[in-house]
Amino acid sequence: MRRVRIIGIGPGHPDQVTAEAVRAMNEVDYFLVPDKSADHAGTDGLLRAREEICRRHLPGEYRIVTVRDPERDRDDPADYRRAVEDWHEARAAAYEQAMLADPGDVGFLVWGDPSLYDSTVRIVERVLARGNLTFSYDVIPGVSSLQLLAARHRLVLNDIGTSLTVTTGRRLPAEAAAGNDNILVMLDGALRCRALPDPSAWHIWWGANLGSPDEALAAGRLDQALDGILRARAEAKAASGWVMDTYLLRRVSSARP
Ligand SMILES: C[S@@+](CC[C@H](N)C(=O)[O-])C[C@H]1O[C@@H](n2cnc3c(N)ncnc32)[C@H](O)[C@@H]1O
Repeated sequence: MRRVRIIGIGPGHPDQVTAEAVRAMNEVDYFLVPDKSADHAGTDGLLRAREEICRRHLPGEYRIVTVRDPERDRDDPADYRRAVEDWHEARAAAYEQAMLADPGDVGFLVWGDPSLYDSTVRIVERVLARGNLTFSYDVIPGVSSLQLLAARHRLVLNDIGTSLTVTTGRRLPAEAAAGNDNILVMLDGALRCRALPDPSAWHIWWGANLGSPDEALAAGRLDQALDGILRARAEAKAASGWVMDTYLLRRVSSARP
């Protein structure tokens, strides 16, 4: 039966691709890659990182089929969930077209780990649900940017016997207000931790472009670390042409690494 492989490739460095992922990459006939060139500046640098991973781990020729990414309503739509679901369906239709046109086993190269803030699994399930294609699919885990953040700062992400909240910049104010005191934040281009009511009550461990040559790290009490983080963020962006960052926030009373 035709196979689809959803392959986590880690957060950007070829050394952080697992042996299982390398095997799966070498077993597929082609990779389906969304073309985000119309999306936002900085995609080129990410594409280059992905190409470098392919160069390192695929000894022969490899084939990439690009699929135009459907337009997405990014203007903070009133019904966010609905807007995302519409976009998933449009992407599923685009993948279906590409897979109907090009038989063979397909690989999706997913940044970091496919289980965290990535929709490839959901979209592949939608392709199946549309009923026009038959295939089996599996998921190969990858090193997440969160794991690399923890390793670089030599952190244990949970405090002893307590919980860990993983969330987005958009949700951070609500999670902090709800009393969560150990919070991992992703997808926060606006660095929303700046707007927390009492920045001196938090410790931050921050990392940008982890795994890239322009990786940047910072840690400290939030109110004291913020200026340095903003500077380091701008420098990483200037050096790489893109910036992605993630951070752990922990209330100072319990701020042990
Ligand atoms: C769409 S999510 C994908 C996460 C990915 N699946 C993972 O496991 O890391 C993108 C977010 O992941 C984080 N991220 C991904 N790669 C990163 C990197 N190399 N350095 C720092 N943060 C990264 C950032 O918070 C970014 O906004």
